[in-house]
Parts: sequence; structure tokens; C-alpha cells
Amino acid sequence: EKGGYQWFMEKEIHEQPQAVADTLLGRSDGAGRLTLDELRISEAQLRAVDRITFVACGTAAYAGMVAKYAIERWTRIPVEVALAHEFRYCDPIADDRTLVVSISQSGETMDTLMAVKHARDLGALTVSICNTHGSTIPRESDAVLYTHAGPEIAVASTKGFLAQITACYLLGLYLAQLRGESYADDARAVQAELQEIPGLITDVLGRLDRVREIARFMADTRSVLFLGRHVGFPIALEGALKLKELAYIHAEGFAAGELKHGPIALIEPGQPVFIVVPGPDTPHGLHGKVVSNIQEIRARGARTLVIAQDGDTAVEPFADEVIRVPRTSPMLQPLLAAVPLQVFALELSNAKGLDVDQPRNLAKSVTVE
Ligand code: BG6
Repeated sequence: EKGGYQWFMEKEIHEQPQAVADTLLGRSDGAGRLTLDELRISEAQLRAVDRITFVACGTAAYAGMVAKYAIERWTRIPVEVALAHEFRYCDPIADDRTLVVSISQSGETMDTLMAVKHARDLGALTVSICNTHGSTIPRESDAVLYTHAGPEIAVASTKGFLAQITACYLLGLYLAQLRGESYADDARAVQAELQEIPGLITDVLGRLDRVREIARFMADTRSVLFLGRHVGFPIALEGALKLKELAYIHAEGFAAGELKHGPIALIEPGQPVFIVVPGPDTPHGLHGKVVSNIQEIRARGARTLVIAQDGDTAVEPFADEVIRVPRTSPMLQPLLAAVPLQVFALELSNAKGLDVDQPRNLAKSVTVE
């Protein structure tokens, strides 16, 4: 049942190319137009949307955070990401022009379900991005966009996460397509490039021996930090969450720009820090800014574990380790950069002799509020 792997999580990590490919499947016509007919909300209603709020918990919320960058850019609709358990109790602003998009692998997370119900009470349009057919959250939503990742058994989400980002991007591109106007060039490029992502994930999966080795030598580590910027920021948060969940190691993710406003005080000799580096062609010079961050923490003795694109030589002087991912458009990098971090957490958990699939105190779907 584990397909020759020791853990379901490992199997599911290796199923990610398929999960993304299946989530993309049948959702565009031959002429490059997206066709999300399954969304039973009229085009007129979707065109009128003037605010999008994601509601989700844990890893699913990070998928929403990644999507915020992309969807705001492509549609110019303001996007907010709310933790589902906070949304309901913060007197949220929503009406019939608000699209409340829940993200839940299981479709049963009570916090997320209650947020969806609250959104409906406020008159918002509700769309569920979900991996489980017939589950509760899609039933309680106006519409559903299924991720087709297949059953996810390991408690820590992996293929579910990449499929969620993919589905969020499809939704964003579809809204941009409907609105017509500012269908930015990069949106068009991303739509085409998404088809190549499954192959690129396979490529990443083939180059992770060094990450495994690094993890195995870190079984005694007490704290690991993760830095990222732009869409790499939620990936840093996800890397930290995975490590907490699986290896019970203190881990924190930060926005790289925030470093000098506090977290840099944590850097002492030997402190391991993962840095998710944006591709060199990311707008606003963000690549150079993150490279400077690596330089700053290295100068203070951090052990820098750098995730960078192929050909990005600028990171090399400041990196103790460079973990390479193939080149992609900036918005698509999360779908590759998340993978070494998943494998790192799995391997470290394994090295500590822990139960990778069933970490202590956690449940696959939390059906209480
Ligand atoms: C947590 C799981 O309890 O729920 C996380 O440990 C998961 O892995 C989160 O991301 C949300 O679950 P779901 O099913 O709503 O996506």
C-alpha cells in the first residue's frame, strides 16, 4: 500500500508530479482558455467580485498565502488570507461581492467549515478548494474546485499542498480571464508554464540525496530558521511547520525583509537557516535583496542552507549548501522549492526515529473547533 516506500509521506511526496498534473487536467480548452465549468457560480457573479478572502488552517493557509501574491497581480482584486479560526470571530467584512475561498485537503476541518458557514451567513459567495469528494466543506459551499491529488494518508500534507496552490492559481487565472482587462503577460506565461511543473517536480525529486544527507546529520539540532520573500515567504513558513510537526524541532519561518527588524538577533554561530531565494528575474530586485540577507546572516556565523534556481551563482559565496531547483517564473517557484523542505523534515524525523506519518498530538483532520 505504501508502494515500496517506508512512509506514506514519502510516497505522497513522490506522487506530487501526478497530483499537480491531475489537478490541471481537463481545465483548459485547446485554445488555452481555462474552463472551470464545475464552478456553479455565474460568470456575472464572478465578474462582480471585488474582494477575495481565503480561509484555511495550517498548510492549506500557506497555499492561500502563496496564491494571494499571484491572484492580486493577475486580477487586481484585493485578496486576504485568514486563518479560518480567526476569520469567524473577527467580525469579518464580506458581502455578495466577496468570494470566500476555503482550502481544505480533508474537507472536514471544523474550523474551516465554521468559517465557510459564517461567510455564507454574511451573504458571501463560497468556493471550496478541496481534495476529498463528498466531504462536508464542499457540500456547504456554493461551488467546489477539486484538487485531484488522490488520497493523502500521512498527517503532514505534501501533495495536497502543491495541488492546492495549483488549484488556487487556476482559480486566479480564470478570474483574470473572465475580467479580460488586465490579463497580465505573466499570467499568460504562467498558465502555459504550469503544464511543465509536473516534469520539473520530478526533476527536483531526482536531486534530493544531498538534502537527505544534510538532514541525517542534523538529528541533534534544536532550532532551524527559514527565510523567504514574496511567494517564498509562505514556503519558509511551510518548511518550518513541517519540521515542527514531523521532527518536533523548534522552527520558525520569517519574511526575509523582516530579518533586520528582529530575527537577526537569533543568529549565532552554527544556527542553521534555510533561505528560499527568488529567481534572479523576480521583479523589484528581490533576488539581490535576499542574497544580501544570506550574506548578513553568514557573516554572523549562520549555517546557510540555500534553495536557489539552477544557474544562480550569486548565492554561492554565502552558501554552506546550495540546493538547486530548476528555473521557473517567480510565481511558480513555490511548487518546486517546497519539495526539498518536505524531504528535509521527513528525513530528520526519520533520523530521530519518529513516526513520520503519525506525529504525536496531531490528527489528519481536526473535526472539533
Ligand atoms: C492540520 C493538519 O490538523 O490540519 C495539517 O495537521 C493540515 O497538515 C491542516 O494542513 C488543515 O487540514 P485540511 O484537511 O483542512 O487541509
